[in-house]
Amino acid sequence: MNHQTRVYDNVFEMLPSEENPSPLVRVGKMNPAPNFELYAKLEWLNPFGSIKDRAASEMIRDLEDRGELKRGETRASGRGIVEPTSGNTGISLAAMASAKGYAMRAIVPQKVPLEKRVLLRIAGADVDVINDQMCPSPGMGEGSIGIARSYAKAQKDHYVMPNQYENELNVQAHVRTTGPEIWRQTEGRVTHAFVSLGTAGTAMGLSKFLKGKNPSIKVIAVQPSEGHDVPGLRNKSELHVTKLFDEKQIDEILEIPFELAYTRALELCRTEGLFAGPSSGLIYEGARQVLERDTKQKGVGVMMFCDNVFKYVSSMVKHVKGLGEE
Ligand SMILES: Cc1ncc(COP(=O)(O)O)c(C=O)c1O
Repeated sequence: MNHQTRVYDNVFEMLPSEENPSPLVRVGKMNPAPNFELYAKLEWLNPFGSIKDRAASEMIRDLEDRGELKRGETRASGRGIVEPTSGNTGISLAAMASAKGYAMRAIVPQKVPLEKRVLLRIAGADVDVINDQMCPSPGMGEGSIGIARSYAKAQKDHYVMPNQYENELNVQAHVRTTGPEIWRQTEGRVTHAFVSLGTAGTAMGLSKFLKGKNPSIKVIAVQPSEGHDVPGLRNKSELHVTKLFDEKQIDEILEIPFELAYTRALELCRTEGLFAGPSSGLIYEGARQVLERDTKQKGVGVMMFCDNVFKYVSSMVKHVKGLGEE
């Protein structure tokens, strides 16, 4: 691999690491506090298109190292992966599994945008779309997680389940890569990290690494309002689904009316040239509110922009008036 010429021997060498970080781009016109350096970390430039490349690659490597997946086995005869996913983890897992020769089955709620369901199939996954009523929410069954678990139990020879909602490697991926990248990219000057909560792997991993370096760094989580339609994210009321979340690791949780995720994403595209998806739009709004409290404040903030807008065109059409009209 040669980073200067950007020539890689295979796609896996493109995965992000301290030596090959995803870019930090400074936000200009949309930063309300001129003395505060506000950066977006563009995770959509990872090889399979989102922040979830980090957890997915870490989990696959571990399954291979433990012999749960056998390197070199054929797709037809060997064991594959089954995973409940709102899309991005599945897309990363499916692309990597296909390139390595493993089968992949994704259990996906209906509300996941069409673009993601199709991309999962393009990447080579078998996709089970389940009724949203079965999705994890207070008082309901375990939905997609339960179904994936049944596959892994009933068809042990065919499937192993990484389980991003319980797998510590989902946190560790960010301790090993995202945190050190941010530390190096900001030369240790980072004061704030703005994150969202899906499995909470990013939030927990970044908190562990960054607070280990400097306990005064603030980790601020941004959540969409209840009943939201922001794929990949959870409101606090939905967080019991993930075993990774520990509120004590977070300095503040901001709740934002979810529609703002869409309007801010559009604004970032049109004003900053950043093709942010709705989860990035939501995180930006959280950062903006923190900076608006004191526009004279100084600091260095990093917003995790997990995914771009391309996979959310149908959601954008649903939530932003006029976009879908000819
Ligand atoms: C677009 C998007 N943003 C944010 C997240 C949240 O990341 P995490 O699962 O690490 O909390 C996800 C997770 O799937 C996602 O798909």
